[in-house]
Amino acid sequence: MRVLVTGGAGFIGANFVLRTLEQRPDAAITVLDKLTYAANPATLASVSDRIDLVKGDIADADLVDDLVAATDLVVHFAAESHNDNSLADPSAFVQTNLVGTYSLLEAVRRHGVRYHHISTDEVYGDLDLDDPTRFTETTAYNPSSPYSSTKAGSDLLVRAWVRSFGLAATISNCSNNYGPYQHIEKFIPRQITNVLSGVRPKLYGDGLNVRDWIHVDDHNDAVWTIIDKGEIGETYLIGADGEVNNRTVVETVLELLGQPADAFDFVTDRPGHDRRYAIDSTRLRTELGWRPQYVDFSAGISATIDWYRDNADWWQPNKQAVEQGYAATEKVIG
Ligand code: NAD
Ligand code: DAU
Repeated sequence: MRVLVTGGAGFIGANFVLRTLEQRPDAAITVLDKLTYAANPATLASVSDRIDLVKGDIADADLVDDLVAATDLVVHFAAESHNDNSLADPSAFVQTNLVGTYSLLEAVRRHGVRYHHISTDEVYGDLDLDDPTRFTETTAYNPSSPYSSTKAGSDLLVRAWVRSFGLAATISNCSNNYGPYQHIEKFIPRQITNVLSGVRPKLYGDGLNVRDWIHVDDHNDAVWTIIDKGEIGETYLIGADGEVNNRTVVETVLELLGQPADAFDFVTDRPGHDRRYAIDSTRLRTELGWRPQYVDFSAGISATIDWYRDNADWWQPNKQAVEQGYAATEKVIG
């Protein structure tokens, strides 16, 4: 099978490429990636002779048309993905997440190619800490940030292309991923590499915001499950029952690295900071038979810490610049 993976040099897309080549050695993979600051081609170095890596923009309609014409399946990961960046400057989010997705959908429509759309639980907005409900496939869209609103818009484009043009598409909305090769701007790798660098972890606001953590391999296995067995035109939520508040995550990282549990700083909160995400993945489990493999969060974090400790060459060149960027807006408040 010929597979076009957009954003395949970023965190989840690159893990998808590596895992697919392990599990489906006959897959012929082309990666289309703009190689923005968020990409790291070194992640794909071990498989560089087994894939075609095309540097390009998903909003480049001619390039996308050529690549889509030569594939059987598009898995669309490419996005501007970081909420904090979207608050500082939303323009690239509108361009890539909306215009870029539109360009892919038009090419897929012209060539009648199967399409899987990667999205996020953030399209549903947030939940109160004591709300007994979780997000399901029928929860109303209510995004909060420029990032999540452009992801929501891209999901709605896919739904419209399915209904109006009969596109052979599926959509998945996943919760927060962790694991190897995640950019150190994101919460868990930022805190791990802070402690490894002798810097105190930074918690936004009161540290009680909850995210529903899933290992990136579980996410990518679910994506293949949906591609193989999902119903065309349908949406599936992906989550591993991994709700943890941010303070507990930081305390876990500190404990696993042998530091005092209170060796962190509270800093200014993110504007509009979503309080809690929680996924009900019953549909994916009961209809398609998917189950997460990484059910022990502390063991998953421990393995992720080991990966960052053993792969400092992968992240260290960026560390100072990322922390300088945060320091420009972030104030310690406690
Ligand atoms: P990432 O920022 O690590 O990687 C994004 C990749 O897309 C990068 O390699 C970047 O160079 C590429 N890219 C950006 N703009 C592009 C463009 N215009 N053309 C081509 N390539 C471009 O992101 P990630 O965390 O791996 O997220 C991947 C996808 O998964 C995104 O669609 C995101 O919304 C979704 N998602 C992420 C999470 C999470 O926890 N990280 C959870 C649910 C869904
Ligand atoms: O829910 C899925 C989403 O998860 C994806 O769609 C996004 O692409 C992905 O970036 C992630 O979004 P979040 O905003 O939840 O992730 P982030 O890693 O930025 O932050 C996780 C939580 O940690 C959030 O509550 C903010 C908080 N945080 C973040 C950073 C970087 C801190 O407390 N301190 C920090 O230094």
